[in-house]
Amino acid sequence: MTIMTITLDKQGLPLYRQIADAIAEQVAANTLQPGTKLPTHRALADALSVTVGTVTRAYAEAERRGIVEAKVGAGTYVCQTDKPLWTFAPPPTPGIMSFGYNVPPAINRADLISEALQQLAAHPNELNNLMLYQSPMGIAHHREILSKWLAQHNVKTDPNRLLFCSGAQNAMQLCLVTLCRAGDTILTDKLTYPGLLSLAKQLRLTVKPVEMDDEGMLPESLKAAYHQYQPRLVYMTPTLQNPTTATMSEERRHDVIRVCRELQLVILEDDINGILPKERPNPIVNLAPDDVIYVGGLAKTLAPGLRLGFLQLPERYYPHFVNALQNHSWMISPLLTAMASILLENGAANQILETIRDQMEARWRIAQAYLKDVDFRYHPNSFHGWLRLPDEWSLSEFLAESKARGVEVKSSELFVPAGYSAPPYVRIALSAPPDRETLEKGLHELADLLANPPLSDFAL
Ligand SMILES: Cc1ncc(COP(=O)(O)O)c(C=O)c1O
Repeated sequence: MTIMTITLDKQGLPLYRQIADAIAEQVAANTLQPGTKLPTHRALADALSVTVGTVTRAYAEAERRGIVEAKVGAGTYVCQTDKPLWTFAPPPTPGIMSFGYNVPPAINRADLISEALQQLAAHPNELNNLMLYQSPMGIAHHREILSKWLAQHNVKTDPNRLLFCSGAQNAMQLCLVTLCRAGDTILTDKLTYPGLLSLAKQLRLTVKPVEMDDEGMLPESLKAAYHQYQPRLVYMTPTLQNPTTATMSEERRHDVIRVCRELQLVILEDDINGILPKERPNPIVNLAPDDVIYVGGLAKTLAPGLRLGFLQLPERYYPHFVNALQNHSWMISPLLTAMASILLENGAANQILETIRDQMEARWRIAQAYLKDVDFRYHPNSFHGWLRLPDEWSLSEFLAESKARGVEVKSSELFVPAGYSAPPYVRIALSAPPDRETLEKGLHELADLLANPPLSDFAL
């Protein structure tokens, strides 16, 4: 049995969480090895001067995270393998260690999905109803459930202004199709989501970049770009921006709203990553619901395979978007919204979200050891990080060399509007490797590359 050294100094965080976090950290660092027996509840409580109840709660939390297991009559042990974090691994792509796509980490959702399916199957009348055409607005009860779940995560919506879509990508498509015409201009951050750039290209819209800093879009640059380009709308991702991970402070959000109100410029707020951080500022929609078209989705927090996204709209736009959705696909499958409603209502969605957050925290803890000497921006709950290449590396050389070593990362070139130059950065999606071995192997290769830049070529 080991008596652990744990310091309880994180103000505002409950003691049981601090103890569970410390156990998680020591397991990740291998200070607590698989199979190690943890102290009894009483022994650890005495050592830390906390109540036995606090330790019991901490061990239960560590067990919920899959780090330890309680054996009846024998005590609590560190799990034998890393099975709890990597419970399900999709088939790897041979020869490629993928750090490319911003996919959620592979986790086992099968039990919770299966339960929800059984719950659906138990109500034949409802199943028959779900097989009928419905209003393009979707079933009101499903919108209410979504609105309640969003409120739990500090997103204020009105069920009568919510619209289901086939993922956030589809939500943005509906928005651009409804509000823009070919030849129009839209504004985005200087570095932005490639899915939006591709959509704009297909719709023959021009994208103009707005300067940004560590918090995202700069209000004064937004104003200047507005006067220069007379855009239809401005697209932004104020929380965990893709690709930079920039998150706007509440003050910056108010400044952006003030500028947009003054210019009567509508904001397309993409909050796809907004629910991932345990704590974050208010989404812009909470502060200015009549000035914002809010886009969200369940792809990052629950499951991308569900293909469920949503829009919260200013009242004046709602009928136009309902019409656009009807033209596009008539409605989103009621079977799908019913299934999602069960998961949102019975706690499964929150359980999956917690598992995803824990997974990401564990992955970033591992990554810190490899990427400690480089300029790397990340958030412990985000899927991606933004890495500045050391001066000795050119972007093209780094991409070629990492590819040669089998490590796939995303070039900054993908994130800039057409005609603008790309800074020397790459996006690394730490959520993408399917298992711990690939994660560590890929990180090792990246760290080695960053530490060993190429020799410079002579040109005579
Ligand atoms: C910033 C951003 N917006 C929207 C999307 C699309 O999300 P969905 O899978 O719900 O269509 C993504 C997907 O990666 C994204 O990164």
